[in-house]
Amino acid sequence: MERSKLHSSANETLLSKKELMIGGLSASWLAEKYGTPLIVYDEEKIRNQIHDYKQAFHEVQADFRLAYACKAFCSTYMCQIAQEEGLWLDVVSGGELFTALKSGFQPNHILMHGNNKTKEELEFAVTSQIGLIVVDNFHEIEVLGEILNRTGQSIDIMIRVSPGVDVHTHDFISTGQQDSKFGFDLYSGQVEEAIIAIKKYHRMRLMGIHAHIGSQIFDAEGFGVAAKRMADLSKKIERELDVMTHILNLGGGLGIRYTSEDTPMPLETLVEEVVLAARKAYESDGLSLPLIMLEPGRSIVAEAGTTIYRVGSRKEIPGLRTYVAVDGGMTDNPRLALYGAKYEAVIANKMNANKEELVSIAGKACESGDMLIWDIELPKAEPGDLLAVFCTGAYNYSMASNYNRIPRPAVVFVREGQSKLVLRRETYDDLLHLEMNTDFSSFS
Ligand SMILES: Cc1ncc(COP(=O)(O)O)c(C=O)c1O
Repeated sequence: MERSKLHSSANETLLSKKELMIGGLSASWLAEKYGTPLIVYDEEKIRNQIHDYKQAFHEVQADFRLAYACKAFCSTYMCQIAQEEGLWLDVVSGGELFTALKSGFQPNHILMHGNNKTKEELEFAVTSQIGLIVVDNFHEIEVLGEILNRTGQSIDIMIRVSPGVDVHTHDFISTGQQDSKFGFDLYSGQVEEAIIAIKKYHRMRLMGIHAHIGSQIFDAEGFGVAAKRMADLSKKIERELDVMTHILNLGGGLGIRYTSEDTPMPLETLVEEVVLAARKAYESDGLSLPLIMLEPGRSIVAEAGTTIYRVGSRKEIPGLRTYVAVDGGMTDNPRLALYGAKYEAVIANKMNANKEELVSIAGKACESGDMLIWDIELPKAEPGDLLAVFCTGAYNYSMASNYNRIPRPAVVFVREGQSKLVLRRETYDDLLHLEMNTDFSSFS
């Protein structure tokens, strides 16, 4: 980590009044050092969230396991933080698994999800001896069974259940409703059928059941309903199929506060709701609660991330709208284009200035839908100013693209006035690294 000379000096307080500070460093120092757009993570916030999740489980005295869903933001450094904090890692592809293993993450604390894991991905997971595979469908049971028979290896698995809980979230990110591409349908006997199919393969050790009801969820109710349904299901399969549930995994999904309009429950409420609902369902039959597992992604990293952009051009349409364009956009944050997501932002170098104009923040890609924020009040945004967009730590970099051959931004972690480059900015050369067209006459 590097210390900013500027901020170790006495003018830090003065500076902090007109400058946005992140982890003890000013946005303009970070922008100067690493360029823009730049995604900055405040590492302490990530570690605090993890600590709070663990504390919440201790409060309700439940055996628990927490996995960080690294689809929210995946890099070797982030995997190392998760490992250091004692978390498991939830991966959903061979690429995420590869990243985790390269980071030194212990394989037996990795679980793999996915509605269409390829044979290669499953084989990679099995031969890497990961801790759990969450089996999603009948095809996967067969493919995995064949791999286990051929390699002679065994693996712990869970089965993913679609519990039919509508959490009133955006259709594209709500995976728990019955009409979902994920998991076995709870209501048509598929779960029982899947268990019978799994029993044919003695190298698959069924450890429990899993449900993920959606994402960016604000209310505890849906989690409570899902926990009860899953607890009831686990009792049923124990009774009827003689299968013990050692782990009840209720996925991720806790919402975060992107703007002041968002009112997510505290994570303590989520943990309490899930544990109490499940405990009640088990104890009514004299059974004890199995290990409760959660897989938060967004709520671990989203609020820790801030993207710093440089302001460039503007277009004023009298009486209609003023567009202020920045040097990134949908290529580093496609969430507005995908989900209509809303964000808050500041001019990072004018924290003291009065808000004096209503503008919309546009990206630089050749696409009208490339917007970051519709209608935000800001101090006068001038070319060269720094715009900081908050809560960009989840599903931003991991969904970034090279559309228009725009290089992806750098990612930096900051902590107590020090910074660490975690992902360097892509270069134009990086954009060509897959190109094989060295010889025009080489068709074969
Ligand atoms: C199975 C599963 N677990 C965990 C997560 C993480 O969810 P979130 O980032 O909303 O906490 C997801 C997100 O889609 C998921 O599909």
